[in-house]
Amino acid sequence: MASAFKLLFAVSLFTLLLRFCRGSIVGVCYGRNADDLPTPDKVVELIKLHNIKYVRIYDSNIQVLKAFANTGVELMVAVPNSDLLAFSQFQSNADSWLKNSILPYYPATKITYITVGLEVTESPNNASALVVPAMHNVLTALKKAGLHKRIKVSSTHSLGVLSRSFPPSAGAFNSSHASFLKPMLEFLAENQSPFMIDLYPYYAYRDSPQKVSLDYAMFESSSEVIDPNTGLLYTNMFDAQIDALYFALMALNFKTIKVMVTETGWPSKGSPKEKGATPDNAQTYNTNLIRHVLNDTGTPAKPGEELDVYIFSLFNENRKPGLESERNWGLFYPDKTSIYNLDFTGKGVLDMTNSTDGSKNGTTWCIASSKASEADLQNAIDWACGPGNVDCSAIQPSQPCFEPDNLASHASFAFNSYYQQNGPSDVACSFGGKGVKVDKDPSYDNCIYLTAGGINKTASSNMTATANTSSSAHTDVCSWICVFLLTTLIAVILNTGNVFHVSF
Ligand SMILES: *[C@@H]1O[C@H](CO)[C@@H](O)[C@H](O)[C@H]1NC(C)=O
Ligand SMILES: *[C@@H]1O[C@H](CO)[C@@H](O)[C@H](O)[C@H]1NC(C)=O
Ligand SMILES: *[C@@H]1O[C@H](CO)[C@@H](O)[C@H](O)[C@H]1NC(C)=O
Ligand SMILES: *[C@@H]1O[C@H](CO)[C@@H](O)[C@H](O)[C@H]1NC(C)=O
Ligand SMILES: *[C@@H]1O[C@H](CO)[C@@H](O)[C@H](O)[C@H]1NC(C)=O
Ligand SMILES: *[C@@H]1O[C@H](CO)[C@@H](O)[C@H](O)[C@H]1NC(C)=O
Ligand SMILES: *[C@@H]1O[C@H](CO)[C@@H](O)[C@H](O)[C@H]1NC(C)=O
Ligand SMILES: *[C@@H]1O[C@H](CO)[C@@H](O)[C@H](O)[C@H]1NC(C)=O
Repeated sequence: MASAFKLLFAVSLFTLLLRFCRGSIVGVCYGRNADDLPTPDKVVELIKLHNIKYVRIYDSNIQVLKAFANTGVELMVAVPNSDLLAFSQFQSNADSWLKNSILPYYPATKITYITVGLEVTESPNNASALVVPAMHNVLTALKKAGLHKRIKVSSTHSLGVLSRSFPPSAGAFNSSHASFLKPMLEFLAENQSPFMIDLYPYYAYRDSPQKVSLDYAMFESSSEVIDPNTGLLYTNMFDAQIDALYFALMALNFKTIKVMVTETGWPSKGSPKEKGATPDNAQTYNTNLIRHVLNDTGTPAKPGEELDVYIFSLFNENRKPGLESERNWGLFYPDKTSIYNLDFTGKGVLDMTNSTDGSKNGTTWCIASSKASEADLQNAIDWACGPGNVDCSAIQPSQPCFEPDNLASHASFAFNSYYQQNGPSDVACSFGGKGVKVDKDPSYDNCIYLTAGGINKTASSNMTATANTSSSAHTDVCSWICVFLLTTLIAVILNTGNVFHVSF
């Protein structure tokens, strides 16, 4: 009897820890402000194809919720600003929305967050006065259904909630918003919900290119910006903006609230005066973003802190008003072809289970498909050796892998290095269908193809992160604790001793 309790205790502790040690995640925003998008079913196929596991939507559309059923994709749904009045006025409105729009599809569709209100400080219709009462009513509805621990309630904001964001240590909320922000922060702290922010270094660069360098906005800067108050060094604007938020929260003594980035990204096209909006820049920003986030680097003020980030957006949305760039934030065209190559590879929740296992020895390599065209190969090489951060020196003239001097051979080397450095997982060898996994070592003469174990981590020096040692510390501690608990769990199962010295 007692050991059954101990087992249960160990299992729940372990599950908790796995959650805690989950690592940062990257999701994608699925905006639908367009008249030419594929049906939700087709969109879900695309999302699965690219191994995207976290998706944010802007409403609770039934077709969309149904399409995500049984996919395992974690979904963030929304109560739009237009519903805030109704939701804030009557509990029954929140109750019936939950009953009719969410519960019939849950848990087959894995809803994990409800965002109540969207960037209310940007909304003209007094939405900010309504948002906290609406959040309370949604939470109450969830409590009645017993789901408030599984589905978190929060609200998204633009960086306009801050009156100051530079230097980061001077980050402060705009006091004009205090009337709704204070109760909202109390709500978030009490319910362990994250503060959700939409961050766009692109706009900072577009609006003041004299002050903000493109490199700094795109995580490519080789120089650092110093915060004079803290001495912290910033190599990119994204980190600086997040830290400004953390400092603003700390200034109000909300030390436990975590920040979550519910939108960020870069447009691939813009009006003539939006010079930064190109496919190359969009690819660079998003590629660097993904690497930065999945590495669990954290920010200078919060080294090693996990950060969940959603990329805006899945598709170009042709009905969005405003400048040309507004309609060009997508990773994909409406016909589902990609605008640029982007790799979502990461060490997500499940990958950890496989890599800690370690017992499996199936070494694989990734090479270029013989069916790929020359142009495709060239594009893929350019990508892998550029934003993909592969060390391509070995395929330069007179280096060991230069001969045979053809695109297929060079692409194979680059593909494999990328694959080994980023997994190795199936997506890291996709290259838009041009990569193939093989189980025979393609190395020849002095040209040695990497394997996952023997990576020479010579990533581009321009990707320097500021938090060098402490960032890995978090992951290390996590792995240690996880290993410890796993061992404990096994010990308990085998009943080899009273591990916990706790009497139940
Ligand atoms: C906005 O909300 C505040 C506080 O609830 C209220 O006093 C004010 O009248 C509202 N303004 C409008 C235009 O509805
Ligand atoms: C603070 O918010 C008010 C109301 O939205 C706005 O008028 C003001 O410009 C903001 N202040 C700063 C410093 O952003
Ligand atoms: C883990 O390994 C199993 C068996 O090889 C595989 O089916 C599964 O997809 C892997 N999980 C991940 C996340 O790679
Ligand atoms: C896996 O097995 C192959 C051949 O059996 C061996 O050459 C290789 O070193 C092994 N790799 C690992 C990581 O154990
Ligand atoms: C790693 O780099 C070192 C020096 O740059 C080199 O001697 C070694 O062969 C490389 N190892 C692999 C597996 O490529
Ligand atoms: C690093 O940045 C410098 C200056 O910004 C640039 O000249 C150089 O080409 C970059 N190197 C790489 C590998 O991207
Ligand atoms: C980070 O690395 C640099 C250079 O490698 C080193 O000088 C510095 O002391 C390191 N910082 C910390 C906090 O370890
Ligand atoms: C990833 O983290 C390691 C140490 O934790 C750091 O040295 C490296 O620069 C980071 N890479 C990126 C792309 O942030």
